[in-house]
Amino acid sequence: MSALTSFYNRFAFFYPLVDIFLKPQKKKFFNEINQLPHGKLLEIGVGNGSHFHLYQRHQITGIEISSAMLNTAKKHSDGTIALFEMNGEELTFEPETFDYVVLSHVVAVAQHPEKLITQCHKVLKPGGKLLILNHFTPNNWLKYVDRAFNLFAGLFQLKSLFYIHHIKAIERFKPEKEIDLKPFAYFKILMLVKS
Ligand SMILES: C[S@@+](CC[C@H](N)C(=O)[O-])C[C@H]1O[C@@H](n2cnc3c(N)ncnc32)[C@H](O)[C@@H]1O
Repeated sequence: MSALTSFYNRFAFFYPLVDIFLKPQKKKFFNEINQLPHGKLLEIGVGNGSHFHLYQRHQITGIEISSAMLNTAKKHSDGTIALFEMNGEELTFEPETFDYVVLSHVVAVAQHPEKLITQCHKVLKPGGKLLILNHFTPNNWLKYVDRAFNLFAGLFQLKSLFYIHHIKAIERFKPEKEIDLKPFAYFKILMLVKS
């Protein structure tokens, strides 16, 4: 079992506390997702699934690497979401299966983001969309906070200093939309299209 999986298995109990801070952004994120035409959607790293009620359309499949997080997610599902224990860096779905892939606060946590984004590209249909919600280190004073916290961030299995353009596989997508979220545009929603 990887360090990340074992961290989230232990951390699952406390995750609702973290979730309090993530809720407002997720509301906006899933609101954007609900505007998109109905399609087959894969969410990677569903966490505890407390946001499942925000989905208003789409045929949803969710995967999670931590069994503890997944067990809680199952309790939040009304049965319409297909849930599997699976690593997003080694997806077992057929290529070109999904219209949308969702990464909500996952890309800066993934152990091998290059592999994760490559797998997202593989399972998306041509013209399919990759939808990302995450913090991105901005070019303002917050970069010093990210830099300082990065020394400890490994303890929490995340990268606080995080630049999307460091992931080469992201170049296989065309940027479609970028939405800055408060505070300080530290969090963003990215919509990218498989080209
Ligand atoms: C910060 S939490 C975010 C959870 C949820 N998406 C949210 O927005 O609240 C990151 C989640 O991604 C999961 N995760 C990280 N890497 C993963 C991978 N390679 N495959 C599947 N799940 C992964 C972790 O186990 C954890 O539950």
